[in-house]
Amino acid sequence: MMDFSFFNPTRVLFGRTALSQMTALVPAGARILILYGGGSVVRNGTLARVQAALDGYEIHEFGGIEPNPSFEKLMEAVTLVREQDISFLIALGGGSVIDGAKFVAAAVYYDGDPWDILLTRGNRIQAALPLAAIPTLPATGSEMNGTSVITRTEFSAKRVFKSEHVFPVLAVLDPTLTFTLPPRQVANGIVDAFVHVLEQYLTYPVDAPVQDRFAEGLLRVLLDVADKNLAEPENYDARASLMWAATLALNGLIGSGVPQDWSSHLIGHELTALYGLDHARTLAVILPAMLSVRKSEKHAKLLQYAERIWNLHTGSENERIDKALSHTRAFFSRLGLETGLSDYGLGRNAIDSLLASLRQAHGNDYALGEKQTVSSELARAVLEASL
Ligand code: NZQ
Ligand code: ZN
Repeated sequence: MMDFSFFNPTRVLFGRTALSQMTALVPAGARILILYGGGSVVRNGTLARVQAALDGYEIHEFGGIEPNPSFEKLMEAVTLVREQDISFLIALGGGSVIDGAKFVAAAVYYDGDPWDILLTRGNRIQAALPLAAIPTLPATGSEMNGTSVITRTEFSAKRVFKSEHVFPVLAVLDPTLTFTLPPRQVANGIVDAFVHVLEQYLTYPVDAPVQDRFAEGLLRVLLDVADKNLAEPENYDARASLMWAATLALNGLIGSGVPQDWSSHLIGHELTALYGLDHARTLAVILPAMLSVRKSEKHAKLLQYAERIWNLHTGSENERIDKALSHTRAFFSRLGLETGLSDYGLGRNAIDSLLASLRQAHGNDYALGEKQTVSSELARAVLEASL
């Protein structure tokens, strides 16, 4: 196992009673801003429930945060926070709203141009407003991590920042708040969480059996509950398992002390920035191609994945790996996520634009992935394999 430091300050309240327990953990006298997205929480009554649970506090609201939250919109929230002297943020929505609230929390105290938060990947953040997250979509794990992904619409740039200061102090996880999700978003969430595990698991062995078995457990649970989550959207137990798996997939635990890849995510972010594909849909396209192009580099872990997740014990090692990759693709397709760029009407012209965007984001000589092997040339091979 590699040396590591593990930090996670988020307190979790989980279950049907979570909302009613939240009040005891919000500071008395807090001036609260509830941030939300395009209006699903208004239409389905979740916003009213949260407001009722916070009876007695001064509450302001800020809606309209888009999927792939924009810098431009979030700066309006920063102004509101300053005008109203807000002291506590509550993010009520999917990963986009939670990520957006993290940006607002940091930008309010940031000295200098707030876009620099993204350009310096969060390294210069000194302080942030306290933030609670109430996820309505199990997917990103943002409710229990210090990561945020923000889009600057005018530059078509989607960038990541991380900071210990923006971990939510509280995550309120009530699976019933997700019952209104359309099937497309449930499927997206399953694939996003599954790929989060793979980005931290499918690298190379470092003798870390605790992390491996945790990761394999999460993958198996996601496979086990996927169909039920789509067929029975109000099945509490299935949704609760999905929700907890998605949170644990990206709260730092399984990635501690092991190498991490993230190159599929970074290429995927450019696909969203340029062509608007949902985040999880970019992963369903890029990840299978990434794994097949880097099959020999990842051989040992791919074989372990084939055996332990897909129960493939016969045939040559390469045959088992190939089968595991085709099962992975089939899993994404069964959930309704396409696995080819051409399924989105994108061809070779898009590849050149995506490669230019990657250079813009990471410099000409970038080298992504756990062994820094994903250069521009390799990214081209992956994108060609994903056509
Ligand atoms: O905006 P509203 O009206 O609320 O509708 C949303 C949105 O249209 C809808 N939705 C959410 N909860 C609902 C609901 N509709 C009905 N009922 C509910 N209960 O779902 C749509 C998508 O929401 P969004 O927040 O965009 O989805 P998701 O949670 O998948 O978040 C995606 C964003 O997170 C980033 C992605 O890049 C993307 O910007 N990520 C954040 C990460 C992190 N912070 O650690 C890691 C991830 O890898 C990812 O990059
Ligand atoms: Zn993701």
